[in-house]
Amino acid sequence: MSTALNGQAYNYKVVRQFAIMTVVWGVIGMAMGVWIASQLAWPQMNLDLPWTTFGRLRPLHTSLVIFGFAGSAQFAASYYAVQRTCQVRLFSDRLAAFTFWGWQSVIVIMLVTLPLGYTTTKEYAEIEFTGAVWMTVVWVAYAIVFFTTVVRRKTKHIYVGNWFFGAFILVIAMLHVVNHLAIPVDWFKSYPVYSGATDAMVQWWYGHNAVGFFLTTGFLGMMYYFVPKQAGKPIYSYRLSIVHFWALITLYIWAGPHHLHYTASRTGLSRWAWRCRSFCWPKLGRHDQRHDDPLGRLA
Ligand code: HEM
Ligand code: HEM
Repeated sequence: MSTALNGQAYNYKVVRQFAIMTVVWGVIGMAMGVWIASQLAWPQMNLDLPWTTFGRLRPLHTSLVIFGFAGSAQFAASYYAVQRTCQVRLFSDRLAAFTFWGWQSVIVIMLVTLPLGYTTTKEYAEIEFTGAVWMTVVWVAYAIVFFTTVVRRKTKHIYVGNWFFGAFILVIAMLHVVNHLAIPVDWFKSYPVYSGATDAMVQWWYGHNAVGFFLTTGFLGMMYYFVPKQAGKPIYSYRLSIVHFWALITLYIWAGPHHLHYTASRTGLSRWAWRCRSFCWPKLGRHDQRHDDPLGRLA
């Protein structure tokens, strides 16, 4: 039997576990979405309790769907695809199991602390310092499992899907660590090392790439594995997939400041985003902005 079909050769247990939790967190996270959507229509559904108000459940909804649902899906898909495309078993069953239980514990920490009101207040990065440090430990273990598996591959080439999974892991590590740099006051409270416009810039560099890398890049890796598989055909243009990869990596990552348009932090650094926009799409740029800003006018 070929290695690809031999169930014993690969670690499918951790893939199955993550796949099951994708469904579980998807159901809970989206039920939370239905609840907060209902609160918008019928405010009395906040039950008049601090733990169930919109302000506390909204970040819980986003955390559950992003990290619980989308996160578990990407763990499952990356662990499945990396083994099959590298034709080698995942590095360390124990470390892979640690990433499963560790990641689930991170989501449970969010599930408990966010309704209790413990939050950094940074969108999609609400988990407080102690939880964020634990999340880093789990993520580093994930990186070790994934990259060591790639290094031990039996195939010569690294399949493009693994490039996307690898970029997803590295960029999320970088975003999470930089955006969470903070001075802890106690176990449940910390203050960011940044302030003012810098804090806003870092947060939306994170926020934009949270969607671009956490909700996109791993899914692209998934598509590059499963779409050709389902279609029973190779990728239409492998060369184009490499262009796609580098375009995403080099361009997307700088685009965070557009999340700060029309906010107070538009002054200072974020004006650069306006200048870029005026430069690239003059017809879309707002006239008053272009005309009262010397660099914008130049552009
Ligand atoms: C049953 C499905 C869902 C429902 C009913 C739902 C409902 C909601 C509601 C009511 C909000 C708050 C809107 C506001 O503040 O005005 C929200 C925000 C959000 N949801 Fe969902 N949601 C669902 C599924 C999802 C899924 C699958 C994802 C991503 C994987 C997602 C990601 C987000 C994000 C990122 C935000 C914040 C958006 C922003 O700040 O502009 N949601 N959702
Ligand atoms: C180059 C690609 C993209 C561009 C130019 C773009 C543009 C934008 C813009 C203009 C906003 C509104 C900012 C504001 O006024 O507050 C926004 C918000 C948002 N985008 Fe994108 N987007 C891109 C990719 C993505 C992707 C790939 C995802 C998810 C898979 C995504 C998810 C979101 C979410 C959830 C928000 C709401 C953020 C919040 O305030 O909580 N975006 N994006």
